[in-house]
Amino acid sequence: MKVKKAVIPAAGLGTRFLPATKAMAKEMLPIVDKPTIQFIVEEALASGIEDILIVTGKAKRPIEDHFDANFELESNLKEKHKTELLKLVEETTDVNLHFIRQSHPKGLGHAVLQAKAFVGNEPFVVMLGDDIMNDEVPLSKQLMNDYENTHASTIAVMKVPHEETSKYGIINPEVEISKGLYNVKNFVEKPSPEEAPSDLAIIGRYLLTPEIFHVLENQKPGAGNEIQLTDAIDTLNKTQRVFAREFKGKRYDVGDKFGFMKTSIEYGLTHPEVKDNLRQYIIDLGAELSKEDKATKK
Ligand code: UTP
Repeated sequence: MKVKKAVIPAAGLGTRFLPATKAMAKEMLPIVDKPTIQFIVEEALASGIEDILIVTGKAKRPIEDHFDANFELESNLKEKHKTELLKLVEETTDVNLHFIRQSHPKGLGHAVLQAKAFVGNEPFVVMLGDDIMNDEVPLSKQLMNDYENTHASTIAVMKVPHEETSKYGIINPEVEISKGLYNVKNFVEKPSPEEAPSDLAIIGRYLLTPEIFHVLENQKPGAGNEIQLTDAIDTLNKTQRVFAREFKGKRYDVGDKFGFMKTSIEYGLTHPEVKDNLRQYIIDLGAELSKEDKATKK
């Protein structure tokens, strides 16, 4: 069966960005001039996804407004002949989007469960609203290609520094059945480096079979008293094979302050409007900082 649907959970509280996220969705924080969530929607479209469900919650209305038409703005831009800007604004409304609210942020697994009726009995992709992935072939598409061969759930993973395993779900790989594709013995949520079975961490893209919903419905809260998607995937793996695809591209964790700042700088360095000035600014700032460093070392 062809994969046509994607679910983007974006209902988390974004506590790492408080106070900015008190009244604003963290998925709307812009990378230069584009909200994070738009990068995710664009990846879904580039992968051939036809229908997208965004799981939203409190303070997330701007996400719906962002992908809706804004007649006042559009007619203003038309009047002023700002055709390039008009194109940018219109592009965001040309997507088949659906929304559902997660009334309480009870965890990623619970957010995915809200998509049960939308997904029905089809395989689907889950794309986290705060993880931007860059590669020649979009990561969601890589997972969809794997599904065509395996007809099984496949989770994206990436090598992380060993001392950081406790921040992630980690896989216990069994065999590498083909280049970068692993059979998985089990999945462990946030293990300490001593306990981690590998350095392959689960990142924000999942291709799941609809049987995950049955597991999620019976899933008990795990770490942080939240319904964890990793726990549900581990349970699913006991009755159907779940594979892991190693991602070799670039991941931008924009749900974290430092990750967000690095992403903004890197995208700024490719943005036609600001790249030259930003580059020069970084060079000058670097020179100033190293002068300061040398002075403090004396
Ligand atoms: P995170 O744990 O990174 O997001 O979840 P968060 O909870 O918003 O952030 P912090 O930790 O408080 O700063 C990963 C993704 O899953 C969504 C989030 O919106 C984010 O895109 N999520 C998480 C939900 O949709 N619902 C939840 O209950 C939890």
